[in-house]
Amino acid sequence: MLASFFALANAHFQLQFPIPRGPFVEDSEPTFCDGYDDVTSNRTTFPLTGGFFSLNSEHTSWTAGVTLSTKENSTSFNDFSIIVPFFKLSGEGLFCIPLDLSATNATGLSDGLNVTLEIVYDGGDGELYQCADLTLSSTATIPSNVTCVNGTATSSSGSVSATSSATTTPSSSLALRVHGGYLALLLALFVGVAAVAV
Ligand SMILES: *[C@@H]1O[C@H](CO)[C@@H](O)[C@H](O)[C@H]1NC(C)=O
Ligand SMILES: *[C@@H]1O[C@H](CO)[C@@H](O)[C@H](O)[C@H]1NC(C)=O
Ligand SMILES: *[C@@H]1O[C@H](CO)[C@@H](O)[C@H](O)[C@H]1NC(C)=O
Ligand SMILES: *[C@@H]1O[C@H](CO)[C@@H](O)[C@H](O)[C@H]1NC(C)=O
Ligand SMILES: *[C@@H]1O[C@H](CO)[C@@H](O)[C@H](O)[C@H]1NC(C)=O
Ligand SMILES: *[C@@H]1O[C@H](CO)[C@@H](O)[C@H](O)[C@H]1NC(C)=O
Repeated sequence: MLASFFALANAHFQLQFPIPRGPFVEDSEPTFCDGYDDVTSNRTTFPLTGGFFSLNSEHTSWTAGVTLSTKENSTSFNDFSIIVPFFKLSGEGLFCIPLDLSATNATGLSDGLNVTLEIVYDGGDGELYQCADLTLSSTATIPSNVTCVNGTATSSSGSVSATSSATTTPSSSLALRVHGGYLALLLALFVGVAAVAV
């Protein structure tokens, strides 16, 4: 429902977990941290081993990579290094991708360290960015109520591709231009609802 709304409204991605610095801003996503230049203080506790991140993809074919900054207040791309090289996936909808920080080449990570994660996503029309401020933990696990699924599959399935929504609308960006005002209103409403829900 949510995913299909986004698929009609625009072609971007939304980081679901860890929670980004602020609510998704479509127009800002091509810029550093989706326009959120400043670090936040409400960091997500993130495990040093066995973690994951999840996102909603609105492109059917896309690449993504993960970068990390160990600065306390990361304010620019220069603060970040690639820790998961770009990988390619197919399908729209939800994806949940393992992120075992201890298995990456990131150095100096330790229990209690404050870091910032930046997900880089490219659906073929330029790189998009969302960031999440984290506190690393050697003991914490991701709460079980955080959704980790690929498409309509459940987390117990090893399946790669998100299927059900993958047939929708390559012409969505045209629709967006034509009905831009209407969609902007819908998006504003959605953001309002999301803000209330959080
Ligand atoms: C932190 O607070 C901001 C502003 O209220 C909010 O948008 C964001 O989702 C929060 N982040 C987390 C990790 O809860
Ligand atoms: C990490 O960030 C939190 C929230 O901003 C802060 O309270 C804490 O002191 C920071 N920890 C370190 C080690 O700097
Ligand atoms: C982070 O750095 C920016 C740029 O130097 C600064 O404007 C901002 O106040 C800093 N934020 C925090 C929470 O330290
Ligand atoms: C980690 O790996 C990435 C991608 O392979 C590479 O770009 C980066 O330079 C490496 N970082 C270190 C510290 O080796
Ligand atoms: C998960 O549960 C915790 C407390 O048990 C709650 O604070 C948090 O908001 C819940 N998260 C979601 C995504 O429902
Ligand atoms: C989702 O697909 C990715 C890419 O193949 C895979 O690494 C990951 O384990 C899958 N996640 C789930 C929850 O099945």
